[in-house]
Amino acid sequence: VRTVLLIGIGAGDPEYVTVQAIAALNRADAIFVLEKAGEEADLIALRREIVARYVEGDPPRFVAAADPPRARGATPEAQREAVATWRARRAEVCAGLIEALDPHEVGAFLLWGDPALYDGMIDVLGAISSVEFTIEVVPGIDAPSALCARHRIPMNRPGGAVLITTGRRLRDDGIPDGIDDVVVMLDPDLAFRGAPDEFDIYWGAYVGTPDELLVAGPVRAVEEEIARVRSEARARKGWMFDTYLLRRRAH
Ligand SMILES: C[S@@+](CC[C@H](N)C(=O)[O-])C[C@H]1O[C@@H](n2cnc3c(N)ncnc32)[C@H](O)[C@@H]1O
Repeated sequence: VRTVLLIGIGAGDPEYVTVQAIAALNRADAIFVLEKAGEEADLIALRREIVARYVEGDPPRFVAAADPPRARGATPEAQREAVATWRARRAEVCAGLIEALDPHEVGAFLLWGDPALYDGMIDVLGAISSVEFTIEVVPGIDAPSALCARHRIPMNRPGGAVLITTGRRLRDDGIPDGIDDVVVMLDPDLAFRGAPDEFDIYWGAYVGTPDELLVAGPVRAVEEEIARVRSEARARKGWMFDTYLLRRRAH
């Protein structure tokens, strides 16, 4: 039966690619690429660089398909519906890619960071029933781990809990009681501006790449600097990937 590998390639540095990911890349006959309209050319280039660097012998073929456009819902309910429709369409596109494999071939999706963190592909493939295949997941170095390494900080305090969330949820829900450490991903709206004064922020953009930017300090003292650095970088590169840890200062 066909095999599909979901390979985490790490959050930016080609050296984040693990030995297990390299072994998986070398098993692939086909690399599947879902091309988003206007997707960051840099990210596609990085995938090709990783394959060129780590695959020995015959390179796998690249098979591209258009990623269905994602609609945005105005209300939370409409948003949930839009996401469900988008995932169903994506599942159809992926089923087509997998069906085109010969019965004993191995196909692979190269997923940014770790496949288990804010990436829908495990669920998308799990929803496919029209073609028989097995899934293998290869973990990768995720953005929060890379961020903490670059700031040389632990993600949690001793015995403490960490909340990993999105900018939207931070903005809408705030920081729950009893949580002192919050990792925020997917935040185009700078939700850290609403964080209480007693938090420090450890912010990083394009972590692990030559364009990496890091800023840390009390959130009130550095939030304008982050906003400025972020908007300059976004204008320069045309896209932005940033993650941050908000940490309640110990008194
Ligand atoms: C769709 S999620 C994918 C996360 C990925 N699966 C992971 O394990 O890191 C994309 C978000 O990850 C974060 N991210 C990914 N790579 C990053 C990097 N190199 N530097 C900073 N943030 C990054 C950003 O918050 C971005 O909005």
